[in-house]
Amino acid sequence: MTDSPPADAPREPTPPVERPYSPGLEGVVAGETSLSYIDGAAGRLLYRGYRIGDLVERGTYAAVANLLWTGEWDASHRLPTAAIPPPVMSVLRAVPSNAKPMDALRTAVSAWGSTQDLPWPPTVEQARALTAFSPSALAAFARLRSGNEPVEPDPTLDLTTGFLYQLTGERPDPGTARALDAYFIVGAEHGFNASTFTARVITSTRSDVASAVVGAIGTMKGPLHGGAPTEVVDQLAKVGSVEHAEEWVRGALARGERLMGFGHRVYRAYDPRAAALRKVAEGMEHKPDWLQMAIEVEDVALRVLAEKHPERPLRTNVEYYAAPVLMGVGLAPDLFPATFSLARHAGWTAHALEQAANNRLIRPDVNYVGPEERDLPG
Ligand code: COA
Repeated sequence: MTDSPPADAPREPTPPVERPYSPGLEGVVAGETSLSYIDGAAGRLLYRGYRIGDLVERGTYAAVANLLWTGEWDASHRLPTAAIPPPVMSVLRAVPSNAKPMDALRTAVSAWGSTQDLPWPPTVEQARALTAFSPSALAAFARLRSGNEPVEPDPTLDLTTGFLYQLTGERPDPGTARALDAYFIVGAEHGFNASTFTARVITSTRSDVASAVVGAIGTMKGPLHGGAPTEVVDQLAKVGSVEHAEEWVRGALARGERLMGFGHRVYRAYDPRAAALRKVAEGMEHKPDWLQMAIEVEDVALRVLAEKHPERPLRTNVEYYAAPVLMGVGLAPDLFPATFSLARHAGWTAHALEQAANNRLIRPDVNYVGPEERDLPG
């Protein structure tokens, strides 16, 4: 047994242990998942092994959410939107009408959590209840801010159709509903992105699923993550016409600007979600009149980007074709990021279930780079 040194004896500094540090955790494997597989080089995205293109063509958001939660494919699975508990409606009425929709949604989910019993571990029922609640909350906020009363859910409608109904008070035509459903499918899940990682960190402390989703919404609110396709809309407005596309694209790149809807941290090939949404946009009954221009501008942008960055493949990403789909279904552009969050509820909550099923508190280390041990002045 060794004696401890006296309390005031100078301490030998512990030599720092050199361990690799990756800013932004880039390239660090921080978990295991069976929910989605992203093959950035080949432009493939699979949910539990199923190709995203097939899920968009043959599935529904309800079936995809259920697949993520349970691992089972049930094409007939239904998921209507849920009623807003009265205390949460009071909170939504108190949110300023000029609040950002992401702030309203985050606040609503937090209030919802306070009305629920959400014991550990999270369950599929909890995931389903929260995913069904949030579209009603966002639709209610959108109506309240423009002086309209919220619309009660219609249990005969599935989640995305129900969301549009509660937003507008009218049942959407099947083509419009289908287009939004396709957008929700491609937005449902995407590996260890920042908001999903947040949800897993919160879940790993054995906190509840509402807290995990509140944190995830806060993370997605940042423009580096939930970067809205709104910017694609603005950009196409600036381009104005196909004839001006080349000049505008070259000018923007010369000014050091980035082309919105192009490039990705993981994908080097054409983003498979963009490919699926392009098909959906082209098939829409009420497509925005600038869709054809967007398609032609895309060709110009890809050609110029390849010329300017021969070393780095920069291809179309999901945001580019999310923009016409969301515009085409009639959503106000400032609702785009919160609508993306609604779609991602399936993935966030599925990750909460997966984390809880094999839980280990997520608590990484940090390299200390501050001053050495010293005495307080005086
Ligand atoms: N337009 C023009 N140039 C682009 C570009 C774009 N959209 N995306 C990347 N580049 C260029 C960068 O300027 C950089 O060039 P440099 O080395 O000469 O400076 C090079 O490609 C590498 O960029 P980098 O920032 O390292 O790529 P990243 O993997 O970190 O960035 C994004 C990924 C998505 C942030 C980036 O591609 C981007 O800003 N895209 C536009 C915004 C967008 O569409 N976001 C939605 C993503 S789903």
